[in-house]
Amino acid sequence: MNRTAVPKANSTAAAGEGAPVRFQVNQLHPHFFGEVVGLDLRQPLDTETTAALTAAIDRHGVLVFRDQQIDDEQQLRFSNMFGEPQRSITVHRQDIERRLRKEELSDISNIDEHGFKLGMDHPRRLYQLTTKLWHTDNSFRNPAGKYTFLCAKKLPAEGGNTEFADMRAAWDALPEERREQLRNLQVEHSLAYSRSLVPGSPPLDENERRSLPPSVHPLVRVHPGSRREGLYLASHAERIVGMPHAEGRKLLEALTAHATQPQFVHAHVWKPGDLVMWDNRCTMHRAMPFDEEKYVRELRRTTVAEDRPALAAQA
Ligand SMILES: [Fe+2]
Repeated sequence: MNRTAVPKANSTAAAGEGAPVRFQVNQLHPHFFGEVVGLDLRQPLDTETTAALTAAIDRHGVLVFRDQQIDDEQQLRFSNMFGEPQRSITVHRQDIERRLRKEELSDISNIDEHGFKLGMDHPRRLYQLTTKLWHTDNSFRNPAGKYTFLCAKKLPAEGGNTEFADMRAAWDALPEERREQLRNLQVEHSLAYSRSLVPGSPPLDENERRSLPPSVHPLVRVHPGSRREGLYLASHAERIVGMPHAEGRKLLEALTAHATQPQFVHAHVWKPGDLVMWDNRCTMHRAMPFDEEKYVRELRRTTVAEDRPALAAQA
């Protein structure tokens, strides 16, 4: 485990002790994934701490903050420090009754407003089926998702991990000749496509089609914080622009298989109070199964938007 201490100023310094308070980052995987120790996210962050956390996530791609007793307002305030929160896509769907009042909060749970488990065929359960595929959040939107924040409230006794893949390490492992063939390719990402991959997942309705059209992104992106290149893939990635469909599918599937090999993947085992923050521009993730008939699983998600728009849509 690698350890790096990151200086920050917070309330201790403000209280007059003089010395800067530090949080520590323990790297939990050989390539990425940091555990942040020493921050209480109930407290507002100052700009220096926010900058230090941005540097930490630039380096690690994913950060976990343990034992955070934050409420929804505090999660939104923390998310807001890093970008503009995006509205949950469920606001575009008329047949979904939202349990959470704030539109920027996504309800990642299998319970109703009274805490009872939803039936397996409940629309809110069916819309979550695609989260079991490798993806990056909101790549089908324009702008796409930058950071996601997922906070655990109630967890199953077993199962329900979230797996993360390091897309920069996967890129680094490709031969340069191969990398040269991939640079400059563009990919169309579509929610309609990822929904079509999962049996039982509802197709887009009229309002979703209008509000959430496909979005085009480079296949290979230079991460703005680290300046490292990485693959930008997701289950939403439908086709490579200008390439015959079957050839594009073959390439996207081969790259996804490469990027999700065990050496690039870290399984996060959730504990109550965990807040996991990840950078959608350089990682993928997927939800792992648990016994949904037996257990309640409740998490809250917020996602902030990228600072730049997607590429112009192309034929
Ligand atoms: Fe996701």
